[in-house]
Order: sequence, then structure tokens, then C-alpha cells
Amino acid sequence: PDTLRIGLLGCGVVGGGVVETLHQNARHIEAEHGVRLDIVRAAVRDVQRERSVHVRRSWLCSDWREVCEADDVDLVIEVMGGTSPAREAIATALTHGKHVVTANKQLLAACGVELQALAATVDRRLLFEASVLGGIPAIHILHTYFGANRIRALRGIVNGTSNYILTQMADTGLSFADALAEAQRLGYAEADPSADVEGYDALYKLQILARCGLRIDLPEAAVTRVGIMGVTSADLAAAKRLGCKVKHVAEVRLAADGRVSAQVAPVVVAPSDPLYAIDGVQNALVVTGDLVGDLTFAGPGAGAWPTASAIVEDVLKVIKAVPGHS
Ligand code: HSE
Repeated sequence: PDTLRIGLLGCGVVGGGVVETLHQNARHIEAEHGVRLDIVRAAVRDVQRERSVHVRRSWLCSDWREVCEADDVDLVIEVMGGTSPAREAIATALTHGKHVVTANKQLLAACGVELQALAATVDRRLLFEASVLGGIPAIHILHTYFGANRIRALRGIVNGTSNYILTQMADTGLSFADALAEAQRLGYAEADPSADVEGYDALYKLQILARCGLRIDLPEAAVTRVGIMGVTSADLAAAKRLGCKVKHVAEVRLAADGRVSAQVAPVVVAPSDPLYAIDGVQNALVVTGDLVGDLTFAGPGAGAWPTASAIVEDVLKVIKAVPGHS
């Protein structure tokens, strides 16, 4: 079979999930697609740290340039997060002829247009399904399905950590701090979980969704952002008494006259709302098309496996789109 040589940038929760996924599904992928996906290098912060047995020591280096500039790497998977040095690393990988798959929502929200333009210039792929809604193929759907419809609105639960915390607080009476600690233990939260609970992570995802679905640039200043820090157990109990739930909802609407309204905030949702049933780490996206009306997509929104799933599906997409890649 052909071999696609992969360089990893970062090997934390998500990077580790990618390593394990490739290990576990290697035979299936080879049989189905006629290609071996081989990790050959991995840039990590701490080369000495104990890792899974499937992470080979020979892959490890501490300098991202050793991955992005290497002749023996065809595709780079960026899962280190943050904008620096991720931006420079992705640009370097692209200009050195590598395709890039990334889960980095903060970077995509800030520099997605610029990096996509660079990828087009150098005729490489930059795919980012894993940056939004975990395992749900939201970007694929937005890019490939809606042609006749004009999308009028995107509304969803896009941060698994916040939804997990709100669900735990409402259903089991767990405190905010304990629910957050559990979300961190399960690998849902960001390295700095304030991005989750203050709504920044949801804001970045909404910016990416708006670009892909509505073809608009949604500047941070145009989005009202409220996190879940101010939601109390009393608020959750009050919603429950009304037969409702509190959900952290990200929403962008495009009016017929072109006006855009967008917010990320905790809202009370009724049982008739498709977001009502989305509990725990689940995410969901309601896409409103002018012909079809509301379509709801739901699934696991965070954690090593759903995110690795989205990443590896993107890698296979590159292989299908670029024959003779290796
Ligand atoms: N911290 C993010 C979340 C991870 O909880 O949704 C997935 O993007």
C-alpha cells in the first residue's frame, strides 16, 4: 500500500487519541483505503514525559520545525492549540509542501482566512473539521450540502465542557467546581478552562461556523459573549420547575437585509427546542435553511476519541482529494 507520512504537533489528550486511533484502526484503514497512515515525527513540549506505549520515542522532538520542515513528512496534524507558535508552524508546513489537518479553533477563528489563502496559493489542503463540534461532521455538511438553500441561521451547543457542567449541576447537584474538575479529568476542557466557561471557545467555534455556513466574517466585537460562570444552582432549579433547562447556546442569524446578529450565552430552553435533549458532553447544531427549515445535527462534542475521529476523517479526505499524495 501507499504510505502517508504524518507529523504530529502536540501529543496531549487529542494527539494521544490520534496515535491510539491510528494504531487501533490501521488495518481497517489500509484495507478500506489502500494506504498506511504512519506517524513519523511528533513535536512535544516535554520529550521525557511518560506516554502510551504506542508513542515511539524515535518520533519525539521538541522543535516544531523538525516536523514542519522535514522532507519525510507528507501531512502535519496540529493539535497543540493556541495561536503561537501554531500559526507559524502551520504556515511553515504549508510552504514546505505539507497538507495540514488542525483542531485549533482559536487559530482558525483568528487567522483562518489568511491560512486558507496560503494553502490555496501553495496548492495544499488545510482541513479543520475537528475544530468545531467534536465528532460531528459540521464543516463537511456546511461545505458540501447546502447549495440550493441559503442558510439563515446557525444555532447550537458548541462547547462540551459547559454543557457537561450545566448538565451535572442540574441533574446530580454537583458544584460548578466539581463538575469542571470532572470535565478536566475526562479530557473535555481546554488547557486553560476559562476559555470554556467564559464562552471564548464557543465564540471561536461560532466564528468558524459563520464563515463556513454563512460565508461571513464575524468579528469578535460583533458577538455578545456571556459564559456560564454566573449560572447558579438556583437558576438551574428554577428552569427545572418550569419544565425547562439552561443551555449555553451559540447563535448567529443573517437577516434578509444582510444584517447579522450573534451571541453566545446561557439561555432557558423549552422541551420543544431541539437543544433541550442535548446533555453532558454532547454538542448540537441547528442549521436553518430557507428551503428546508431547521436541520439538527448532534453528537459527542469533546474528548480524545470524537476529536481524533474528526482528525483522521480529514486525513482520509486529503488522501481522496489529492491522488498520488505519497
Ligand atoms: N474544550 C472544548 C469543549 C473541546 O469542551 O468543547 C472541544 O473543542
